[in-house]
Amino acid sequence: MNYIGSKNKLSKFIKAEIKKIVGETKDKVFCDLFAGTGAIGRTFKLDTKKIIANDVEYYSFVLNRNYIGNHHKIDWHEYLDELNHLEGINGFIFKHYCAGSGCERQYFSDNNGRKIDAVRQKIESWKSTEYITDDIYYFLLASLLEHADAVANTASVYGAFLKTIKKSAQKELWIKPALFETNHAEHEIYNKDANELIKEVEGDILYLDPPYNARQYGSNYHLLNTIALYDNFQPAGKTGLREYKRSLWCQKGNVQQTFNELIKNAKFKYIFLSYNNEGLMPPETIKTIMSEYGRYDVIETTYQRFKADTNENRNHKASETVEYLHFLEKSCFG
Ligand SMILES: C[S@@+](CC[C@H](N)C(=O)[O-])C[C@H]1O[C@@H](n2cnc3c(N)ncnc32)[C@H](O)[C@@H]1O
Repeated sequence: MNYIGSKNKLSKFIKAEIKKIVGETKDKVFCDLFAGTGAIGRTFKLDTKKIIANDVEYYSFVLNRNYIGNHHKIDWHEYLDELNHLEGINGFIFKHYCAGSGCERQYFSDNNGRKIDAVRQKIESWKSTEYITDDIYYFLLASLLEHADAVANTASVYGAFLKTIKKSAQKELWIKPALFETNHAEHEIYNKDANELIKEVEGDILYLDPPYNARQYGSNYHLLNTIALYDNFQPAGKTGLREYKRSLWCQKGNVQQTFNELIKNAKFKYIFLSYNNEGLMPPETIKTIMSEYGRYDVIETTYQRFKADTNENRNHKASETVEYLHFLEKSCFG
């Protein structure tokens, strides 16, 4: 999934740097507190005793519940085969997010909107009749989210839709398995505010990748929450927004105190924070806050944020960002 702030491309670098400092991680509990797509937890899943993954957004919980939480093999072929061959239904997604219903929004082609409705309803009916386990439920939901996102008619996020259906959105929705690594460890997955959860969990390595600017994930990915929750509400305005959570990490006036509180309450020896040079908190502020609680260091790398455009007529530049990995070995607890 193309996700704002995804660490997919940086995951090898982050893992290598964490291992350089922490050493062997096989016997350690690793917490990914702002897990998003789960890219970092997934990188450590087979290399730690346990992963604790959390995100305040429900679609992210679904992804992590599958990619991290699921650890026994699932025989998915029959389920996906049935879902992929369902007839479309004029349900909530078609009614509010597809132009064919007359709603004046166009986040999906009519056929794909109808198919998302049919698949989503079938998954829910399987769950309510106990035809599927929780593990399979989240596996199927994650598979749907990934592939609905791939045929969304947006430039990238769900803050707006395109006026005409773009090429990738014209393709028929075809759900492939959201495959995960299997192992014997039991992992913990949460859907909570980070500053609340930090008071309830403990472990060895805490990885923090909070939002770094004012863009709220709940509004940018509202349609993923709507598909995942599939609840009934009145979509608002031109974009069909649902009510969403406003993270304190996206607010300049609140982020510093929120960060300080989190570090203070963390019961983890090794704490890592990913943040870039365009973030709401300057590096010096982060250094000052973290240094109060123990030994601080920082590692930096440059990172190409957008791929250079291969079409020479469109002169899109790849922008280079400095990505920091701040580190604290916490000695001062409480
Ligand atoms: C930069 S993204 C994380 C990306 C992730 N590391 C990845 O590779 O996909 C930040 C995440 O923080 C989550 N978030 C924002 N505010 C939060 C809060 N108060 N508590 C927990 N998660 C929050 C967002 O939903 C988003 O998924």
